Amino acid sequence: MVLSILLLCLLQQTLAVLVPWLDDDPFVESRIQANKLGFGLPPVVPPNEITDETRSLPYEGFVPDYVIENCPLVHLYSEEVYWPADVSDFIQHFRVQTENGSIVKDAPLKLKDLKAGFRVSEKSKTLLPSEDTFLTALDDFNKDPRWLLGHKPDYSSGHIKDAPAILIVVDKGNGWVDAYWFYFYSFNLGAFIMGYGPWGNHVGDWEHSLVRFYEGKPQYLWMSAHGGGGCYKFDAVEKKARVQYKGTEPTSKILERPLIFSARGTHANYASVGQHAHDVPFFFSALSDFTDRGPLWDPSLNYLGYTFNGTAVTPVSEREEELGTEWLDYLGRWGDKQLKWNDPRQKWCPVQWRFIDGPRGPLAKNLDRTGLCQRSKWWNFWDGCPARRSIKRGQGLDAEHNDLVGDNCGILLYRIRPRFLRSLARLVMWRGVACFTMDYFTG
Ligand SMILES: *[C@@H]1O[C@H](CO)[C@@H](O)[C@H](O)[C@H]1NC(C)=O
Ligand SMILES: *[C@@H]1O[C@H](CO)[C@@H](O)[C@H](O)[C@H]1NC(C)=O
Repeated sequence: MVLSILLLCLLQQTLAVLVPWLDDDPFVESRIQANKLGFGLPPVVPPNEITDETRSLPYEGFVPDYVIENCPLVHLYSEEVYWPADVSDFIQHFRVQTENGSIVKDAPLKLKDLKAGFRVSEKSKTLLPSEDTFLTALDDFNKDPRWLLGHKPDYSSGHIKDAPAILIVVDKGNGWVDAYWFYFYSFNLGAFIMGYGPWGNHVGDWEHSLVRFYEGKPQYLWMSAHGGGGCYKFDAVEKKARVQYKGTEPTSKILERPLIFSARGTHANYASVGQHAHDVPFFFSALSDFTDRGPLWDPSLNYLGYTFNGTAVTPVSEREEELGTEWLDYLGRWGDKQLKWNDPRQKWCPVQWRFIDGPRGPLAKNLDRTGLCQRSKWWNFWDGCPARRSIKRGQGLDAEHNDLVGDNCGILLYRIRPRFLRSLARLVMWRGVACFTMDYFTG
C-alpha cells in the first residue's frame, strides 16, 4: 500500500516536471486549428469575431427554444451528500479575501457585491483584480453546515426550486450556437485513493456541459470532469423521453432529452454509469469516480439565462436583471484557499492535499472555445478533442452493458461479432496502449 502510494507520488512528480515542457508543444496551434469542428460545414467562430453576416442569433439576450428543449438531464448520485446549490444563497456565507488573508469585502455578501475588481481603500486608484481573491467561508465547512449540502430534485419533475442552473448561450457564427449549462454545488468531496481519502476537497464546485448546435440541431455534447471532460456526438448520447414543461406546467409534448451522470462527491460528468478512472490515462485506475441512476435533475425547469458575446453577458429576463450580471465577471475563487499544512483539518498524501483551492466561475471556463473541450489535460500534449461515436463505458459491478455503449476499444473492434471473438481480438491485439489509442481516435 505505502509502496504504491510512493510510486504514484513519483509518477506525479515526474509528470509535474514534464508539464511546462509539454505546454510548449509546437503542434498545439496546428491541432487547435484542426479542431475547429464542423468539417464540411462552415467554421465555428469565436464570439468576438462574429460579424452581422455570420451571426447565428438575432440579438443579445435571445435564447432559442431548441437550447431549452435539448438541455441535458442530470442523474445525480443516489447517495450524494452535496446536492446542487443556489449561488445567491451560497454567497451569504462568505467574505472576499486576498491570498494573504486580508479582507477585501466583508460579510454579509450579496451576489451584487461580486465584481471584476475591488477598490481596497478610499485612496487607491487601481482596483484589485478579482483573480487574486478568494471567497472565504464564515463557518467551518468541515462541519457540513446546512448551506453546504444543497437541495435534492423533486422526485417527479426533477425540478430543484432552490438551486437554479446557470445557462450561458454563445453565438459561434455561421449557424453554430453553444449552450453552456453550469451546475453549481457548494462543496466538492474529492476522490478516494485505494480506499483512503477523500483527497482534493474544495468549497464551491462549478461543473458544466456544452451542447453545440448547427442550425438549431444539436450536434455535439461535451461534459466537464476534473478540468477535462468527455466529448460525444449528440446522437451517441443516451436519451430520455420527458414531458415538456411550460413554466411549471407539463404540456402534452414529449421531448427526447440527453442524459448525463454526475459523480458522487466530485460532480464530474460522465455519459454512463459505473466506475470511471480519471486524471491519469488508461493504464491506471487509482483515482476513480462513481455514477449511477440516482435522483434526476432537470436544469431547464429552473435556470438563470444569459448570452455572452466575448466581452459581456446579457440577461435573458427580468429575473437575471434583478440579480445583476457583474457577479459573472468575478474571476476569483468560489471557495476557500487551500488550507495551510498545519491546519488540523488539512492532511497530505503523496499525490494530493485533503483540502485544495476553490474553483473559478463560469466566465473562466473558455466560453470562446471553437473546439469542444475546455482545455487539454497534461498528457494530451497534441491537444486533441475528438467527439466519440459511442458512449464510453464505466467499469465495475454497476456498469451497464448494452448496444448503445462502446467497449472502449474503438469502433473497429466494436463491430466484431459475436462478442467473445471481439474480446479475444482485444486481448490479443489491442490490450493496453493500442486499445486506448484506437478508442481515442475513433470513439
Ligand atoms: C495583503 O495583500 C494586499 C493586496 O494584495 C496588500 O494590500 C496588503 O498590504 C497585504 N497585507 C499583508 C499583511 O501582507
Ligand atoms: C456585448 O454585449 C454587451 C452587453 O449586452 C454590449 O454592451 C456590447 O456592445 C456587446 N459587444 C459587442 C461587440 O457586440
